[in-house]
Amino acid sequence: MKKLSVFLSIPIGVLLSSLLGSCDSDGLDAIDIEVPAGYELSAGTSTVFLTSSVAYDSEAPWVSGDYLTRFVRGDRLYDDVRTSTNGDGGGLGPVYAGYSCGSCHRNAGRTRPGVWNDNGSGPYGFSAMLVYITRRNGAFFRQYGRVLHDQSIYGVTAEGKLKVDWEYQTFSFPDGDSYELALPHYTITDWYADEIAPEDLFCSVRVPLRHVGMGQIMALDQTEIEKLAAKSNYPEWGISGRCNYITERGKLCLGLSGNKAQHADLTVELGFSSDMGVTNSRYPEEICEGQFQMTEGSMMGLTYDKLDISTEDMENVDLYMQSLGVPARRNVNDPEVKEGEKAFYEAGCHLCHVTTLHTRPRGSTLLAGTQLPWLGNQTIHPYSDFLLHDMGSEIMGAGLNDNYPSGLARGNEWRTTPLWGVGLQEKVNGHTCFLHDGRARNFIEAIMWHGGEGWASRQKFASMPREKRDAVVKFLQSL
Ligand code: HEC
Ligand code: HEC
Repeated sequence: MKKLSVFLSIPIGVLLSSLLGSCDSDGLDAIDIEVPAGYELSAGTSTVFLTSSVAYDSEAPWVSGDYLTRFVRGDRLYDDVRTSTNGDGGGLGPVYAGYSCGSCHRNAGRTRPGVWNDNGSGPYGFSAMLVYITRRNGAFFRQYGRVLHDQSIYGVTAEGKLKVDWEYQTFSFPDGDSYELALPHYTITDWYADEIAPEDLFCSVRVPLRHVGMGQIMALDQTEIEKLAAKSNYPEWGISGRCNYITERGKLCLGLSGNKAQHADLTVELGFSSDMGVTNSRYPEEICEGQFQMTEGSMMGLTYDKLDISTEDMENVDLYMQSLGVPARRNVNDPEVKEGEKAFYEAGCHLCHVTTLHTRPRGSTLLAGTQLPWLGNQTIHPYSDFLLHDMGSEIMGAGLNDNYPSGLARGNEWRTTPLWGVGLQEKVNGHTCFLHDGRARNFIEAIMWHGGEGWASRQKFASMPREKRDAVVKFLQSL
């Protein structure tokens, strides 16, 4: 296969000692890594050169023929608003969180979350978020299950509504510039059944993830990730990443997707079932968690005897997501972007947001067995190690800790978010809310929420002069 990535390499040790005298002063050693000069091809042959609002939502160049037909069908199923009828095209509810995949992942991105619009679910609003709830001892609530469904079909009560109260605090960079962080405090109101006491409740709020590079993630050379976990140990930076492992269909798998790397696949079946109430072969039960007595496939006088989506169609959705193109970088030769790129390495961001990885030779296999060989043997630039890192519990007395474990991931551990395409989020979705719960309103806030293993890196960034910090932001906008 033709290799599309060509880049010059300069060892960062040389760069750092020649350009940046400050390294020795804080005891952080320069890491020997290659700084690639100007690679645009984020995902090899899957790279697309789009900068518009459909930059995340267009097929990779190799998608054609039967695959294109299936891609288009998958795209449609992904975006079609489900109705509450039974069977094909229906199945919404009785309670749900979203009414189509695209309702939360607009343009295959991150729909503006209700945390900021409506301070939560809003009275009538649609939040585009997932709210995970558990008892403080880790057990699920019998009447509510794992996800709080804050929406419902006609005649049914939503399980509850999320409310966010923001606590604001202003901080200063060493050079005197200031920035503000906003810490969310979540409560749940309007419980449809038993009131859950706040002392007995942990709730973790998640805004959707962008679908950039889903196929590449599924095709990752997993031994490379496991080797990275063994290598990801930089005591002087306080960084040590580790893999999440989860049991899927009775098999122990490496977790790659989700904010805590808590899933091994693209959760199509789970998304239909748990997020929307659309029954399928893997999850045939309605998700009303005891709100209704389902007797012999009927509920409220309606029959619920058919599955709402076929496995073939779920595979089309899987195919659609895995065949999406990954936007190429932009402005790679802009001097400020280049300056920001150097600063990104200088601040050690790349130790977690790993720039270059590879996919395995055979590419990816979809949920019903279709192969996508085009995803194989690619050099990709996801800006993630797909590992878990302790992101701390200190900043504003809470940090990013959500007290919600998933697989091996603890409350304070998160998967490094891949940054490819992040610079287009504003164009695609019209907002710059970042981090798992959308609390950061811009890139600076996202960085300044990095605690724990990210602390040394954040401090490096904070100690840079304003022009350099701005250059880092410019660089992120070029991804
Ligand atoms: C209610 C909003 C909502 C709906 C509806 C929804 N999602 Fe998501 N999706 C999310 C959120 C929030 C996350 C992050 C979850 C986490 O990390 O815990 C996510 C994560 C994902 C991921 C993981 C992405 C990654 O980068 O690791 C995939 C894939 C995905 N969703 C696919 C789907 C599909 C397919 C559907 C439709 C069947 C769907 N989603 C419907 C909100 C939604
Ligand atoms: C210790 C590993 C680590 C280091 C070092 C690190 N990050 Fe992160 N980064 C993460 C993790 C984990 C998340 C996800 C946290 C969350 O969502 O709560 C993240 C999230 C982000 C996000 C938000 C992405 C999104 O779409 O929500 C941005 C932007 C970001 N990091 C930029 C940077 C920059 C710039 C640096 C260097 C100054 C840096 N990071 C250093 C691990 C790291």
